[in-house]
Amino acid sequence: MKALEYAQTHHDKFLTELQTFLKIPSVSTQERHKPHMAHAAGWLRDKLLAAGFPRVEVMPTPGHPVVYAEWLTDPQQPTVLIYGHYDVQPVEPLELWRTPPFEPTIVGDDIFARGAADDKGQLFIHVKAAEAFKETAGAPPVNIKCIFEGEEEVGSPNLNPFINAHQDLLAADIAVISDSHILGKDIPAIVYALRGLSYVEVEVTGPAGDLHSGIYGGAVHNPINALCALIASLQDEYGRITIPGFYDQVRDLSTEERAELAKIPFDRAAWLEEAGIQADWGDPDYTIIERTTARPTLDVNGIWGGYIQPGAKTVLPSKAYAKISMRLVPDQEPEEITRLISEHLKEIAPPTVSIAVRNLHGGDAAVVRRDSPAMKAAFAAYAAGFGVEPIFMREGGSIPVVATFQKVLGIETILMGFGLPDDNLHAPNEKLHLPNFYKGIETVIHFLENLAHSDS
Ligand code: BES
Ligand code: MN
Ligand code: MN
Repeated sequence: MKALEYAQTHHDKFLTELQTFLKIPSVSTQERHKPHMAHAAGWLRDKLLAAGFPRVEVMPTPGHPVVYAEWLTDPQQPTVLIYGHYDVQPVEPLELWRTPPFEPTIVGDDIFARGAADDKGQLFIHVKAAEAFKETAGAPPVNIKCIFEGEEEVGSPNLNPFINAHQDLLAADIAVISDSHILGKDIPAIVYALRGLSYVEVEVTGPAGDLHSGIYGGAVHNPINALCALIASLQDEYGRITIPGFYDQVRDLSTEERAELAKIPFDRAAWLEEAGIQADWGDPDYTIIERTTARPTLDVNGIWGGYIQPGAKTVLPSKAYAKISMRLVPDQEPEEITRLISEHLKEIAPPTVSIAVRNLHGGDAAVVRRDSPAMKAAFAAYAAGFGVEPIFMREGGSIPVVATFQKVLGIETILMGFGLPDDNLHAPNEKLHLPNFYKGIETVIHFLENLAHSDS
């Protein structure tokens, strides 16, 4: 196939362009990076035009823009909707980076930069696959639409309204997302389930103002102490969540699925090492793979209040705060879970403090079909791109748009990830394994070819 040959002989060009993309500090959550968001969107538009897409638009939203592209080549062929995000996580703590986050640095076979794997590098795979068809066959074998958003890392506040308002524009037969990882360099995998998310911020107020802890301590309830007790009561010693009703909608794993999950290669020692821990923790009724991908969780992401500067200050603070996120599994609904935790916390909060719970954001969990023609096309594409058949697995992270595509557009999504488990997503020293970048481009080329010849 000519497109494959093009992909195999243009690594240097692809890499140079990826480096340019990774240099743009497109951090969606930080106001000072707003101009860089627009820069990244414009850069992507230019690359999509250069890759042959006849229609490319930077479409405004109340937040960061959506980059939309369209290449309709043959009404007889299926239409693929490719989703990705060009925004990245903040880089802090900066001092833990070995190389500057926005100066992409190649070490061995890896490229280190914020966004290398999540998700600029993976998004770019699709742009380069399209280019390979343009330069060899003139056009891709199927119709392609791209929707690249700039707000994924902040919970996609404007994406659902955008999709709702542009249902005709986005109409497609299947969606594809490359924003997850495979099991190892040479162990390709296809993710068929993702967890959802419910994320709240809790504010506990004690006295109306900070007090001297010597003068008042002992008779005034400290809101930080109270918050810690509340949080501690939300789980038992194994992390099972004690909020009434929390597990009501959890879909149990079937015996067959548990047997399948048990076959996924898993090296416990390597996993402990990767996580940097001595021992694992959690519900002993489930394996580590099950606990991290198919069971719900509750985690405090941050907790603050009182005096946190160097040295000691005796104070009985007025306020205490915590950010609490819960990973959800089908069929838990984020709105319902947010309601349950809010009501529960208010119910159990002692009368000596007041409590407010705010919803930050949420997203639905998703499970996709594994028997569709498009999934078969993806399966064969990985086998061709990596030389071995992919393994089906679930993933503990969240990509809420998968459920939105299902609900609003009525289409299934294929998760064709090319990252690795140790890519340091959201952490210092994020990287992308370059052989995976190139194999990813080849795998997507195979996928689009297979799709053109499938009966979807
Ligand atoms: N790409 C990740 C999700 C992911 C990570 C999928 C690892 C598979 C493997 C995505 O960019 C992300 O970070 N999602 C957020 C959720 C979002 C609602 C803020 C997450 O999972 O925390
Ligand atoms: Mn991502
Ligand atoms: Mn992310």
